[in-house]
Amino acid sequence: MLILHKNNNINGLMDADAIIIGAGACGLMCAVQAGYLGRRVILLEKNEQPGAKILISGGGRCNYTNLFATDEQFISGNKHFVKSAFTQWTVADTISFFETYGINGREKTLGQLFPESNNARDIVAVFTSLCEDLGQQLICGVSITDIDILEDGFAVKYDKGPKSRILKAPKLVIATGGLPIPKMGATDFALRFARKQGLKIAETAPALVPLTITGKEEDWYARLSGNSVFCRVSNEHIAFEENILFTHWGLSGPAILQISSYWKRGEVFNIDLLPGQNITALLEEERKQNGKSLLSTFFNHLYPKKFTDAMARFLPVEKQVASLTRAEMEQIAQIIHQFKVKPAGDKGYDKAEVMRGGIDTSELSSKTLECKKIPGLYFGGECVDVTGWLGGYNFQWAWASGFVIADNL
Ligand code: FDA
Repeated sequence: MLILHKNNNINGLMDADAIIIGAGACGLMCAVQAGYLGRRVILLEKNEQPGAKILISGGGRCNYTNLFATDEQFISGNKHFVKSAFTQWTVADTISFFETYGINGREKTLGQLFPESNNARDIVAVFTSLCEDLGQQLICGVSITDIDILEDGFAVKYDKGPKSRILKAPKLVIATGGLPIPKMGATDFALRFARKQGLKIAETAPALVPLTITGKEEDWYARLSGNSVFCRVSNEHIAFEENILFTHWGLSGPAILQISSYWKRGEVFNIDLLPGQNITALLEEERKQNGKSLLSTFFNHLYPKKFTDAMARFLPVEKQVASLTRAEMEQIAQIIHQFKVKPAGDKGYDKAEVMRGGIDTSELSSKTLECKKIPGLYFGGECVDVTGWLGGYNFQWAWASGFVIADNL
């Protein structure tokens, strides 16, 4: 049974304690937490339904947090920025919040938590029913036409169908997410509004995004399309050990999505195709045990056959292991442990899971996410320059930032 502390002191000229623009992960969490604290909010959402990205997340199953999330797995102009929010709203808070409403988590891999039902709809339903119980108003299908900054708050003008309306509130929360998947309603609303107010924006780019290979390499990758190999993908900043997936246009798979957030056009990264093992030592052993076997046969024990075939481009796969020269052994070690990739680009916002960059953290209080220059204005979720790794980290930021803002409305 919910105990509501309704705030009945809203100034007669105000429509709510706060207006939240964007009913995604951050906006929904903010509305619900504000409701617990007796704050009345109005949520304005562009789509006809809230939580579109929650619904498609994790392949429709929603990887809603990560058991191992700390501030370490986030990219931001200020690596300390997330610390306060993550202290105020922890992974344990996310887990117990959803458990309270009947969603138990199941860890799939690497700390990634999904609802036991494997259904992202259950996550969205928690918020829609809580918004209703708490009396928070959700207005979908709106088009925001203007925002005025008043002396005592904000006036948000919007159209819904043929009707226009102005809402006023002392506080305004912008939680309109990032640029990925425009066909799902993603807009640059937060960035445009922030720019208009003279706020700094950290350069934006697609992140957690597949990478493309063009030119004479393209065919080689295309021939391997559909094959997945467990690798260590690294550059000067970071390393990830997960699968890579070859595609007809380049590389995808979790390890590639992860490194893409740390990659810039023109840079090369390294793939260790046999992480944690030493190919030279394995080959020396093979020479002793089974020297007459072909290098291709040896590789077939480690990799998909198509991959072995493709290695013929670089390595003498049809040679017997015992007859490999020292130079060939070195070349094998080089290719297997230090395979260099120079992507041509990325698949862009149509395929990216998140946006890197966003509202510069120097514009916001890390404790409240309130804009330093415009009191009463808050930015949360993906529109802020905080980008998490693949694996539930980005939702943890969205929930935490929504909670922190609510606590300060
Ligand atoms: P979010 O995008 O959730 O919400 C923003 C809301 O604002 C949307 O409802 C949008 O329609 C609305 N809006 C935009 N412009 C507006 C305007 N002008 N007026 C009114 N409303 C407007 N993360 C994770 O942790 N685990 C996962 O499993 C996945 N999986 C995943 C899969 C795919 C395919 C994608 C694209 C992304 C993920 N993510 C993820 C990332 C995750 O979805 C993302 O980080 C959060 O949804 C961000 O939450 P926000 O609330 O900031 O934005």
